[in-house]
Amino acid sequence: MSRRKQIYEGKAKILYEGPEPGTLVQYFKDDATAFNAQKKATLDGKGALNNRISEYMMMRLGEIGIPTHFIKRLNMREQLIKKAEIIPLEVICRNVAAGTMSKRLGIDEGEKLPRSIVEFCLKRDDLGDPLIAEEHIHAFGWASQAELDEMIGMTLRINDFMQGLFSGVGIRLVDFKIEFGRVPLAEGHQIILADEISPDSCRLWDRDTDKKLDKDRFRRDLGEVTEAYQEVAMRLGILKPNPSNPPTLSVVSSDD
Ligand code: TYD
Repeated sequence: MSRRKQIYEGKAKILYEGPEPGTLVQYFKDDATAFNAQKKATLDGKGALNNRISEYMMMRLGEIGIPTHFIKRLNMREQLIKKAEIIPLEVICRNVAAGTMSKRLGIDEGEKLPRSIVEFCLKRDDLGDPLIAEEHIHAFGWASQAELDEMIGMTLRINDFMQGLFSGVGIRLVDFKIEFGRVPLAEGHQIILADEISPDSCRLWDRDTDKKLDKDRFRRDLGEVTEAYQEVAMRLGILKPNPSNPPTLSVVSSDD
């Protein structure tokens, strides 16, 4: 049992007070939720895989100059991160139509978009994370114009980099969701990439077969969820194949 102070518990992660001021420990749970938490399950090994995949993505993005909250991985399920004031927006970037965009605009899933599109949702579980316009962000003061410009610029750079990275391992980056936070500087503050980047928050399709290697396997009851996440980790070179210890999938409850 951890005696650390818990700061926050979300659907897939827990945040604990970190060892130094300005730090937190981010713990990745095996829990999976979808459709605004109406569908729930525990997927053995998902937390450990997302911890590793998110570590890898944040480190690679750090190398190209994207400031992130990641400091270091502590163990299988935990990483040390910078404490940030989370901006209450989910920033979504899409390259190919899927999910809610296909439903909302009547575009077939899999259709390539004319260009990458950045969307914003308000982080409000009780409202189902509604899609919002930049006008709402300005009017309600959720972020300043300068912050918004910075977030959009960073999102497009992250998209370019991740598209290339995944394309190199035969994966199409269909879309992804990221979150940003503010960390105080001596003067003012800096916007950093926060939360996680993992198959929970991206759509990743095999380039040749369109096989889904992301959370849609859970949302749509396609099975072999952790196996797909493991495949992403293996293709990225994060995990070595270990046929003697295959991942197990145990769905403890599914009420969808
Ligand atoms: P979207 O198609 O808008 O919603 P859904 O996943 O409900 O079909 O999602 C676009 C991408 O952003 C997809 O990869 C999932 C991710 N996403 C999250 O991870 N969390 C969220 O709360 C939302 C709205 C999207």
